[in-house]
Amino acid sequence: MSYQTLLSSLENGTLVITINRPDKLNALNKDVINDLSKVMDEVYNNADIKSAIITGAGQKSFVAGADISEFTSLSANEGAALAATGHKNVFDKIENCPKPVIAAVNGFALGGGCELALSCHFIIASDNAKFGQPEVNLGLIPGYGGTQRLTQVVGRNRAMQLLMTGEMFSAKDAEQYGMVNSVVEQDKLIEKCKEILQVIHAKAPLAITKVIECVNYFDHTQAGYDFEIKKFGECFATEDKNEGTSAFLEKRKPDFKGR
Ligand code: COA
Repeated sequence: MSYQTLLSSLENGTLVITINRPDKLNALNKDVINDLSKVMDEVYNNADIKSAIITGAGQKSFVAGADISEFTSLSANEGAALAATGHKNVFDKIENCPKPVIAAVNGFALGGGCELALSCHFIIASDNAKFGQPEVNLGLIPGYGGTQRLTQVVGRNRAMQLLMTGEMFSAKDAEQYGMVNSVVEQDKLIEKCKEILQVIHAKAPLAITKVIECVNYFDHTQAGYDFEIKKFGECFATEDKNEGTSAFLEKRKPDFKGR
């Protein structure tokens, strides 16, 4: 199938899905979310696809976050609805996919990009990758599961620091935090993911699905996701969110008032 904002290619049973908006550092706008939803349906339903790799076009960015330009005019309810739709149609679909899905993080994985990587079954990163949840710079919090999945992966105290400072961290740091399984040179990234998937393809597919189901059962926090969606929506009723998103788009520092 072909997609407006994605490239996809199937080789040896692995569908490589490339988010293709390099001029906007592959930011997740509504079109990308729609396409990711459709491509995940294809992964679920096409028997020729045994696994998937999600990556970003270009050498600079995996995904630099949700598209901030779509945030400026949303109400609290619309903000919560945006997060809930993304959860249901993309992030939960990836997490619960019966076939393995690897994030091949090839540059910036910020905000929704970091959350997208965390929703995959595991992460392989190139040595130039940079992770972060910088939503607090915009007067926001993560809305695609970041407060929950990052905490599960790196632990409470480190998650608190990363979520409150919004600071970027390197692929090596992410590996040390237990978030990234391996760090490789950028031109070896897809090859490394394919190698791992070839090992998995030789195993019993129904057993692989059950591994995914059981690991996700252990981690399952639907109430946490719902609570995050509610709190994310509440940010949209604040002046600080207007100031933060305007400041980003106007390329200046925000001046937050706590209102
Ligand atoms: N949403 C919308 N547009 C984005 C974007 C996002 N999340 N991230 C980057 N872009 C756009 C920029 O506005 C710019 O567009 P322009 O060329 O039309 O001005 C283009 O992508 C290139 O980004 P730029 O900021 O010029 O690149 P840089 O190398 O100077 O900085 C980043 C790279 C990733 C540090 C910076 O783009 C950034 O901070 N992005 C936002 C990260 C973020 O807050 N994500 C969470 C969103 S909830």
